[in-house]
Amino acid sequence: MSQEKSTAYQKEPLSIVVIGASGDLAQRKIYPALFALYCQKLLPDVVHIVGFARSEMSNTDFRTKVSRNLTCRYSQEESNEAAIKSFLERCTYVAGQYNEAESFRQLHKELQHLDPDGAENRIFYMSIPPFLFMEVAHALKAADLVNRAENRGGWTRAVIEKPFGEDRQSSDELTSSMGQVFTEKQTYRIDHYLGKEVIQNLMVLRFANMVFDPIWDRASIHDVRITWMEDLSLEGRAGYFDEYGIIRDVMQNHLLQMVALMAMEPPVSLFSGHVRDEKVKALRAIAPVGLNDIVVGQYSAGAMKGKQHFGYLDEPGVPKDSITPTYAAAVLQVNNRRWDGVPFLIRAGKGLSSSMTEIRLRFREVPGNLFKDATGHLSKNELVIRVQPDAGIAFHIVNRVPGLGMQLAESNLNLRYESAFQTKIPDAYESLLLDVVQGDKSLFIRADELEAAWDIFTPILHTLAKDRIKPEPYTFGSNGPASADALAARFNVKW
Ligand code: BG6
Repeated sequence: MSQEKSTAYQKEPLSIVVIGASGDLAQRKIYPALFALYCQKLLPDVVHIVGFARSEMSNTDFRTKVSRNLTCRYSQEESNEAAIKSFLERCTYVAGQYNEAESFRQLHKELQHLDPDGAENRIFYMSIPPFLFMEVAHALKAADLVNRAENRGGWTRAVIEKPFGEDRQSSDELTSSMGQVFTEKQTYRIDHYLGKEVIQNLMVLRFANMVFDPIWDRASIHDVRITWMEDLSLEGRAGYFDEYGIIRDVMQNHLLQMVALMAMEPPVSLFSGHVRDEKVKALRAIAPVGLNDIVVGQYSAGAMKGKQHFGYLDEPGVPKDSITPTYAAAVLQVNNRRWDGVPFLIRAGKGLSSSMTEIRLRFREVPGNLFKDATGHLSKNELVIRVQPDAGIAFHIVNRVPGLGMQLAESNLNLRYESAFQTKIPDAYESLLLDVVQGDKSLFIRADELEAAWDIFTPILHTLAKDRIKPEPYTFGSNGPASADALAARFNVKW
């Protein structure tokens, strides 16, 4: 997010170690993102990608795995094949145990062999389940891979990805144990939504345009709605999902980050500390969600696009009596001077009618509206920020229909990314990985931000579990449970 990102590229030799090298995340997201950065010449000239995992594998097999998802939309000078070949030459593999210092000593030897003269700048991307974070962290420390680089003028960065605990307490425990190995400065906590193009644009939209600032508050805005929906089911992740549920999976992180960016005050500067200070303040102003402020749902069997889908309880791997929500809608109150009384309605669900993420701001009625009779049935002004798919920003205005007589209609001022910018939107991981290489932390979650986000949802998560509150069923392929509409209606809002 910082402005210097496009000029001051990291040039020193670098090793990027992907721990959990054969996992799904590594193959679908990390290698393709690194490759895209490589094609755009955004990685240092001397760069090594080292896969680390438990299974024995030759370098050739590892390279075959890496190559599976590589496309080279950025490579202009070289052919696709040449770029892939030269990228793969930089990829090597080391097999080892996650909890053994000796394995990481072997890794260290390999890293030194690859780059004997470098300052040992290293990124350790932990693409592993969270219960392994600490084992790996301790083994890295015991093998002297954490502070060694710093002592030689280089740096070490550890990248971890959610879930960061299951509630405030377990998250604090993880933060504190990781803190015994890596400093906060060395720790990069990913929320991949922050790397998405439209989400990176939220601060620009708000703070680089004069038109929005005077109307971005309770005097002009009636409500803010954030919708995250997926038409997918569990995609083979039943074990993980049933333990976490939609509130922990998506709401406590991706949706709250969007809320924070919409609600925050302008930061003093784009320095990552200043940006995150303001996000923390916004999150701290949100009251914890109570039972009255939330609706939880669980999908039942349904047909979509000609295909019959299981109900959640019949999904392989899900216990028959599971009360894990696959849907939640909540109202958040941001208790500060700017937002007092403006409901922030957020909803997220799997097994819904489509996949999309968007933010909507509805403005208040025009006071003393001269055209009241003519506009009677029209809705108010609305700003729609479409995160995905079909990224764009639209502003709904009331307009005169050309012709005789006075007829008004709602029209759209529409910015569609695809036609407005002749460029491909980079994947979120490209942006985030580039920031890790650059050492820019604006788009990563700071420990206090994580605490504030958990404080909003921890009490309700405990209540739902303790009282075994059954989620309301909704049909797969629908728009979610009816009570979510009733929740919005309480605030005179339609999703
Ligand atoms: C992840 C969640 O964080 O985000 C998944 O764990 C979800 O359940 C995914 O499907 C959605 O990401 P995206 O980038 O496809 O919108």
